[in-house]
Amino acid sequence: MKRLDVREGWDANMRILVTGGAGFIGSNYIRYVLREHPEDVVLNLDALTYAGNLENLQDLEHSTHYRFIKGDIANPEDVAEVFAHGVDGVVNFAAESHVDRSILNPEAFVRSNVLGTQVLLEAARQAKVEKFVQVSTDEVYGTLGEQGYFTETTPLAANSPYSASKAGADLLVRAYGQTYGLPLNITRCSNNYGPYQFPEKLIPLMIIQALADKPLPVYGDGLNVRDWLHVEDHCLGVDMVLRRGRPGEVYNIGGHHEHTNLEIVNQILAELGKPRTLVQFVQDRLGHDRRYAMNADKITRELGWQPQIGFHVGIRQTIRWYLEHREWWQRVRSGEYQAYFAQQYGNRTGSRMIGGETK
Ligand code: NAD
Ligand code: DAU
Repeated sequence: MKRLDVREGWDANMRILVTGGAGFIGSNYIRYVLREHPEDVVLNLDALTYAGNLENLQDLEHSTHYRFIKGDIANPEDVAEVFAHGVDGVVNFAAESHVDRSILNPEAFVRSNVLGTQVLLEAARQAKVEKFVQVSTDEVYGTLGEQGYFTETTPLAANSPYSASKAGADLLVRAYGQTYGLPLNITRCSNNYGPYQFPEKLIPLMIIQALADKPLPVYGDGLNVRDWLHVEDHCLGVDMVLRRGRPGEVYNIGGHHEHTNLEIVNQILAELGKPRTLVQFVQDRLGHDRRYAMNADKITRELGWQPQIGFHVGIRQTIRWYLEHREWWQRVRSGEYQAYFAQQYGNRTGSRMIGGETK
């Protein structure tokens, strides 16, 4: 088996453990790796929570370079079983990822995001992996005013239980590098959009509500700013970091596509030919971060990363994807998701939005 050379990069026959590969970004990443590096082998460890959906990877089911293992990163036995297959590198996407859910139930976030990361780190250390990549988020830096950007040296100042659990994980990853010499990187990316995103997140939720002529629930004044990046560009960055990132380094990834939530929602309505009267301002998210914006100069300078998909093209492609994959999101929106939807929006909008339906 070819080993990692940080100067040349991994070039053949790597066995990559991808955790959380049945979710939005993980599934896009696995497809990316098997397309761009067909000589590699991907092991996908995923607990299949409400957000994990094997339909996202149906086209790869019969690939001899791909294997799915159902398991929990916080369970050392599940993790040991996967490492027994042989692992050269780990990319840890597995996490509880939705801020609103973390406000309702922080405990699950600490278990998967903090404990789960530590269990994985320990297994990676024992296995002497060549690289451990922790997929983190811009949210660990907290919130910005109207000016400025997050850099890799911005102090961590997480504001939600979700971002606090991701910041805790980042510190554990750093500690495994400092203490045990584990070769690692942390990537911190801004808001992703694209195919297979679970429809609890802003962009798919608003597309689906608009298609059904239902109210679009905008939190607060709608002027919170997010920096949007197409998921393919995030996958490209993570993969460059896995293969060529300098061990021990943090890399920001971001699109420089800053928009208010209201701008995003109005663009979706315009693309779908729907009226702005569908916008419904609802009670704000607790502790709602005002603005995120990334300085991603370091990954561009060191690894040559550049976003390939402009926001205006990417958002149109994404809207088209949701139009062409109604069955996918209709199935996703059944079951547990509906109960969550009622809990999340039921008391924000009176009885107007339950299970995605206006009652
Ligand atoms: P997602 O919620 O769509 O997917 C998460 C996946 O992890 C699911 O398949 C789920 O089943 C799995 N999972 C959760 N807990 C697990 C556990 N204990 N053991 C094994 N599997 C488990 O999330 P996403 O949006 O694809 O985000 C992936 C990662 O990227 C997360 O770590 C998130 O913090 C980070 N991130 C996301 C964004 C974004 O905009 N979505 C931006 C930056 C960073
Ligand atoms: O910045 C990276 C982060 O982006 C990731 O780490 C998280 O995993 C991912 O969920 C995302 O977090 P956000 O909280 O920014 O994304 P979300 O889609 O939940 O919300 C985006 C913005 O839209 C935010 O300001 C809240 C607002 N919003 C969201 C929802 C779901 C609304 O106004 N209405 C809504 O119904």
